[in-house]
Amino acid sequence: MSSDRHKTSSFLGLHMNPGEFRRACGLFATGIAVAAVIGRDGKPHGLTVNSFTSVSLEPPLVLVCVDHKAASHGPFSSAEFFAINVLAEDQQELSARFASSHPNRFEEVDWFEGAVGAPVLAGALAVLECEMYEKHEAGDHTIFIGRVRRAAVREGEALIYFKGAYRRLAE
Ligand SMILES: Cc1cc2nc3c(=O)[nH]c(=O)nc-3n(C[C@H](O)[C@H](O)[C@H](O)COP(=O)(O)O)c2cc1C
Repeated sequence: MSSDRHKTSSFLGLHMNPGEFRRACGLFATGIAVAAVIGRDGKPHGLTVNSFTSVSLEPPLVLVCVDHKAASHGPFSSAEFFAINVLAEDQQELSARFASSHPNRFEEVDWFEGAVGAPVLAGALAVLECEMYEKHEAGDHTIFIGRVRRAAVREGEALIYFKGAYRRLAE
């Protein structure tokens, strides 16, 4: 019996196992993005996310969920603008870099300040440049909702995340 089977939470007699919760969420295949802001310190901050979701067409809204424990959480909380950089299939290294403890993730990365002043990564498959619209506390994450002010796309295929591993779309 795995140790986390004991850590069930119960509601109406239903038992929710945290390991099963993670595994179930991991079965929802997603793309990967780097969400990024310029902090009050004038420096770029960003992290790898797969919680990115489109929310509304009119107005155009998207969301991303950021862990309270993430170092980027503070810069996101005070930012007026953020960018979502959807990674292309050849950008797996960027995903790993922006999920790592690298002291300066933007060093040696080709990036620039886009139309709203948030960090845009060169070569991203799509970029959504957003103005902060709403923030909601939800458990141990904050849901940041952005109003999309500019969207740009290029040709190519997406980097995929499924069952805790990087994947590529089959031809
Ligand atoms: C594929 C993948 C998806 C991730 N998605 C999220 C996410 O949606 N929200 C989040 O807060 N962290 C997510 N993370 C974890 C952060 O990228 C990681 O904890 C990062 O080091 C946080 O950086 P920071 O502490 O410098 O902000 C993800 C990591 C990976 C590898």
